[in-house]
Amino acid sequence: MLSSILVALCVSAHQSGYGQCGGKGWRGATACASGYTCTRSSVYFSHCLPTTGVNIAGFDFGCGTDGSDTIADAAPPLASLGGADGAAQMSHFVKDDNLNIFRLPVGWQYLVGGTLGGPLDSANFAKYDQLVQACLATGASCIIDIHNYARWNGGIIGQGGPTNDQFTDLWRQLATKYGNTSNIIFGLMNEPHDVDITQWASTVQAAVTAIRKAGATTQIILLPGNDYTSAGAFVPNGSAAALAKVTNLDGSTTNLVFDVHQYLDSDKSGTNAECVTNNTADAFTPLATWLRANNRQALNTETGGGNVASCEKYLCEQLDYLNANSDVYLGYLGWAAGSFSTSYVLSEVPTGNDTSMKDTALVKACIAR
Ligand SMILES: *[C@@H]1O[C@H](CO)[C@@H](O)[C@H](O)[C@H]1NC(C)=O
Ligand SMILES: *[C@@H]1O[C@H](CO)[C@@H](O)[C@H](O)[C@H]1NC(C)=O
Ligand SMILES: *[C@@H]1O[C@H](CO)[C@@H](O)[C@H](O)[C@H]1NC(C)=O
Ligand SMILES: *[C@@H]1O[C@H](CO)[C@@H](O)[C@H](O)[C@H]1NC(C)=O
Repeated sequence: MLSSILVALCVSAHQSGYGQCGGKGWRGATACASGYTCTRSSVYFSHCLPTTGVNIAGFDFGCGTDGSDTIADAAPPLASLGGADGAAQMSHFVKDDNLNIFRLPVGWQYLVGGTLGGPLDSANFAKYDQLVQACLATGASCIIDIHNYARWNGGIIGQGGPTNDQFTDLWRQLATKYGNTSNIIFGLMNEPHDVDITQWASTVQAAVTAIRKAGATTQIILLPGNDYTSAGAFVPNGSAAALAKVTNLDGSTTNLVFDVHQYLDSDKSGTNAECVTNNTADAFTPLATWLRANNRQALNTETGGGNVASCEKYLCEQLDYLNANSDVYLGYLGWAAGSFSTSYVLSEVPTGNDTSMKDTALVKACIAR
């Protein structure tokens, strides 16, 4: 009886969307409802805003869809290393746009200095960690994203390429570094494709087990499916059924969240400026039905389009849909800011200097709050 009352109190202790969750003297709920993040507005006021952010790309430059990574092509988005000022971009997004989550893509080869199964390369990891620390300093959640398409130099992990042990050793090391940092999210792998989904689910299970055993027991881990993590393919092509079986050490699925992407252009590749759909009918509605029926949740870690009117229409619609279904969709991130040129077709790179930054048309229309 008492425990069910406590459970009821805990449930009602989640502040609803747009409600206050912090600030000087605040004694109410500090945790937000599903799909919302407690976002600081000033020392006096924090509120529950939709979990919204952008990718801060650059450490992944040089990565190919075959899992290759030309390390020399990495372009750290760090002014301290002579690159784009990703730290200033993130603080602008937090301060001016109320964003509260960033994804930080990086190549596997970059982190281990090109040695499969080796230790983190101390020089390269220190550079990547500068970006992670800059993200954490904004108060946002920070996703570590290994941008390797389930591969290393053409070979699929656990399917003829690297062994599961070589992959899980990377995650064991990262979980040991970040295991006590609650705002870190472990994004196991960007966009697996053309994998055997049953074998891939065992690789994902091995990585989850390694992360939890390294002491990172509570953070969110993102589980990526096949077909470049397509939200529309997730259920019909079998990723949902296979990945639903992945569990924590105790058999639960707490904080194991599915990672999905869905672009809005004619071939859904995210390479064309124009958008033609909001993807609700073919992707997000059927996926929401499955997630609800199976009591699971997903995060959309890549979406976006050109800085054109069609994308302002369709991307805003897509995000409205995700917001309206925040019980199963935990949030979304635009692709991409960081080291991209402002002429990149999907650029979300703000222009200006570190004291005054201006958003792209699409960020302004659909992502900034
Ligand atoms: C977390 O902190 C505890 C206490 O300081 C320490 O024993 C543990 O090894 C740390 N775990 C990780 C994964 O950093
Ligand atoms: C589903 O899988 C099939 C076979 O691998 C593939 O041809 C198809 O493109 C996939 N569907 C999507 C939407 O990715
Ligand atoms: C998404 O597009 C469909 C088809 O055009 C439309 O019916 C639906 O209302 C749109 N969704 C939102 C949230 O605007
Ligand atoms: C930054 O940009 C703003 C607006 O364009 C300008 O007023 C300011 O002088 C610039 N600051 C620096 C340090 O360049």
